[in-house]
Amino acid sequence: MTIYTNIEDLRVEASKRVPKPFFEYVENGSYDELTLRANRRDLDAIRFRQRVMLNVSERKHGGTMLGKPVTIPLALAPTGLCGSMCANGEIKAARAAQRFGVPFCLSTMSLDSIEDVAGAVDQPFWFQLYLMKDRKISESLINRAKAAGCSALVLTMDLHVEGQRNRDVKNGLGIPPKLTPANIWSIVSHPGWALPMLRASEWTFGNLKDEVKNSGDLGELAEWVKSQFDPTFDWHTIDWVRQRWGGKLIIKGVLDPDDAKLAIKAGADAVLVSNHGGRQLDGAASTASQLPAIRDAIGKDDVELWADSGIRSGQDVLKFLSMGATACMIGRAYLYGLGAAGEDGVIKALELIRDEMDVTMALTGLTDASKVPPSLILGAPRRSAEEPAATAYITQLDG
Ligand SMILES: Cc1cc2nc3c(=O)[nH]c(=O)nc-3n(C[C@H](O)[C@H](O)[C@H](O)COP(=O)(O)O)c2cc1C
Repeated sequence: MTIYTNIEDLRVEASKRVPKPFFEYVENGSYDELTLRANRRDLDAIRFRQRVMLNVSERKHGGTMLGKPVTIPLALAPTGLCGSMCANGEIKAARAAQRFGVPFCLSTMSLDSIEDVAGAVDQPFWFQLYLMKDRKISESLINRAKAAGCSALVLTMDLHVEGQRNRDVKNGLGIPPKLTPANIWSIVSHPGWALPMLRASEWTFGNLKDEVKNSGDLGELAEWVKSQFDPTFDWHTIDWVRQRWGGKLIIKGVLDPDDAKLAIKAGADAVLVSNHGGRQLDGAASTASQLPAIRDAIGKDDVELWADSGIRSGQDVLKFLSMGATACMIGRAYLYGLGAAGEDGVIKALELIRDEMDVTMALTGLTDASKVPPSLILGAPRRSAEEPAATAYITQLDG
């Protein structure tokens, strides 16, 4: 049995099991991958305060997201072509999220459709919307998400146009992948991936195939999708979405304090600080470097503030929480689990993150992951008088 000690072990296993064009599609950042690297570099540079001589025997890892309890304060981020990691990947990831007790968000660009996933899980999941120029299609997607009982809509704001991922261009990655000799070899040399894939319920963009004319031709469908990302989409457009959706709304892709304020003004229930995992604006700041200023700008509002991009461990989650996030999202970390071992691999990724959180909490004197103080990390301002008593050193030393 393969032993997985961290997300990197899952990544290595996925790289062996998944054909190169699909594995690199996940790994890629846009252009020179400056932002992709900055996400990791800036998280790595943060140091915890080590605290000792405290009783940390009781540790709570849970929290809430949009008012619902979660096993750890983390959701599975929307990822297009998630189902290319293994057959029916979206269904497997949704089931794993449900088993573990965290939310799953389905991408507009998934292989399994909203209805496929709804039929495979008993609890509501979230749906991510890319607003299309053809508003009838966006409206239909919103209605389908409502009919399927989705409990939140994630509106992605950082893809007015698509950043180029150079490795995808070289690999001929598209739907379907270009049948170059290298790609054919890559697929046939991974029978453990390819054979179940032949039996998968979808091998196209499941949410779009019935919305678009000529969708039988996958090449045309892919071209259509590219032409449909809407660069006119401004913050007033959020109103258009809110009127049709009516439920919880998460604004994804905010990286600037002014945009965070606009998102709140536009009625977001949660704001997700994200640079799309370094896949869009290359040269953008890391989320770790922007989060504190965004937290300051929105103050102690009722709005939930979440962060993603670069998370590969429980330590990373705690760093974001300490800098003011109320919860996080992961993309690649769970896709590696999915590529390595399907549904159980996603569970493994979540367990690893939870266990790393647990040990890090004990060694930093933290007893409640839903109340992480800024003082968990070095260089942060000391806690203010009104900060909740969340750490053992606060309750035991000050109490
Ligand atoms: C393979 C892949 C596909 C993605 N597809 C989407 C998508 O369809 N919609 C979206 O809003 N974000 C998408 N994202 C961005 C993720 O939702 C998330 O912001 C990002 O993965 C976080 O960074 P991380 O991968 O380092 O955790 C994608 C990310 C990856 C890695």
